[in-house]
Amino acid sequence: MTGDEPVEESESGEPLADGGAAGADDVALDPWGSSAVSDYRKLFEEFGIEEFDEVLEEVPNPHYLMRRGVIFGHRDYRPVAEALREGEDAAVLSGFMPTGDPHIGHKLVFDEIIWHQQQGADAYGLIADLEANSARGMSWDEIDEHARDYLLSLLALGFDPDEGTLYRQSTNREVQDLAFEIGADANFSEFQAIYGFDGETDVSHMQSVVTQMADILYPQLEEPKPTVIPVGPDQDPHVRLARDLAERTRFFKVSEAYASFELDPEERDLVADFHEKLDPAEFDDDQLRCVHVAEAIEETPLEDLDVPADTLSSVLTKLEEAGMEPVRPRTRFFDRRATDEAFDALIEAVEGEKRVYENHIDAFELEVAEAEELAREVEVDNGGYGFRPPSSIYHRFMTGLTGGKMSSSVPASHISLLDDPEVGYDKVKSATTGGRETAEEQREKGGKADECPVYELYAYLLAGDDDEFAKRVYDECVGGERLCGDCKEQAAQLMREFLEEHQEKRAEVEELLEAADIELESPRKH
Ligand code: TRP
Ligand code: SF4
Repeated sequence: MTGDEPVEESESGEPLADGGAAGADDVALDPWGSSAVSDYRKLFEEFGIEEFDEVLEEVPNPHYLMRRGVIFGHRDYRPVAEALREGEDAAVLSGFMPTGDPHIGHKLVFDEIIWHQQQGADAYGLIADLEANSARGMSWDEIDEHARDYLLSLLALGFDPDEGTLYRQSTNREVQDLAFEIGADANFSEFQAIYGFDGETDVSHMQSVVTQMADILYPQLEEPKPTVIPVGPDQDPHVRLARDLAERTRFFKVSEAYASFELDPEERDLVADFHEKLDPAEFDDDQLRCVHVAEAIEETPLEDLDVPADTLSSVLTKLEEAGMEPVRPRTRFFDRRATDEAFDALIEAVEGEKRVYENHIDAFELEVAEAEELAREVEVDNGGYGFRPPSSIYHRFMTGLTGGKMSSSVPASHISLLDDPEVGYDKVKSATTGGRETAEEQREKGGKADECPVYELYAYLLAGDDDEFAKRVYDECVGGERLCGDCKEQAAQLMREFLEEHQEKRAEVEELLEAADIELESPRKH
């Protein structure tokens, strides 16, 4: 995807447009493109996104979107959950491309930001106006109009602008400087691999990537803290890159080691294994040495080792070269890009037995977790950022009301937060359902709530915090007690009420927005 073909909508809060190009069970994650998530399980298997259910228990007062599995996945959310639980610093940030009206898909992201703010996190909402201008060709007039609408809805739903931070990319000089700086650690080949950019991709498009990287790290500019980025899974490539880049800015890399030389992870596992198995008492002066491990590995039948041949030969070479050096587990601080002062400060700071080499320090009495904390502390004290890799949570995309994908360009497929309440009512009334052909059949077999866009409306929005209500709708539907006509009537009424209330609140927060610390007019407008 070069980003130059006609782009379809895929803002973070919104279902991906169906490009139809990818095979039905092809999962591709493309922030600007036409990827579709046909199978959420693949996101776990192929992309390493973790299941949200597995951290749910660690989350204090989980939001209903978490309880109902609408938020289905995460990367590294544990540190954020822990910070919220312990009342420690944490942050939440998400961004919105002001390319159209905010709709009920964006509401998921608004709610996620607001919930984290209410749990005590520093909350950030940003308008991705540079991205909208460069990657989508929106005019500044359009951008300003939509930006205002996003912000009003965010405030109307409960974002506290006095506690939180709102900004637009184009007027945030710190973000732009950070983008420039991080850009030094990213190169074109990488963008090519991640986003499919090619020789035709314009430079601003690449610039909008580093800008988003800076957005994601912005909450940690003052000091490192666990930060969560709530987005749709289409944004996962950005999250992965941001995690990588955050790591690359770090002064030190902390790892486990067994001797003075470096081992790559597979080699290390092998050595760790033998270190565990071999008894030092069986060797001269009770010392397990590198040669001993090398010999033991060589005596082991290949099929019991389960490592590739090149790993085997390289680990043997390293061990043999080290010869009589004792094998001892240790925690290593590798100097990635520390200043001399920072390196010296770290030497000072490491307690207990340590050994200092040209490019690394080995500590024999520090656990890895302690060492990570220490490395970050020393980095921050010596002028580094000490970024923690940002975490993310992913919500499911809503199904379009007309079936298929929900798409901004098909008004009947989605409900805008600005839709006239009667229009909202009508859209729900004419939505497709997971119902059966006839009322009789429905009573007999039950409806297919799992495939019903109307049920989704209940679960994602209309039932609000009331789990019992959501469950009742589900049970009655699949049990055949609920028929689609009445069910849609109820949903349509709730939708009408929701839109009425939301729009009243939007009017009420106008002043709050005027007073908030964010430019509502683009200086670039002409
Ligand atoms: N690229 C995002 C979108 O298409 C918008 C965005 C910009 C964003 N910066 C961000 C999202 C930072 C999350 C975090 O909607
Ligand atoms: Fe959907 Fe309601 Fe019909 Fe069930 S009864 S299929 S939830 S519209």
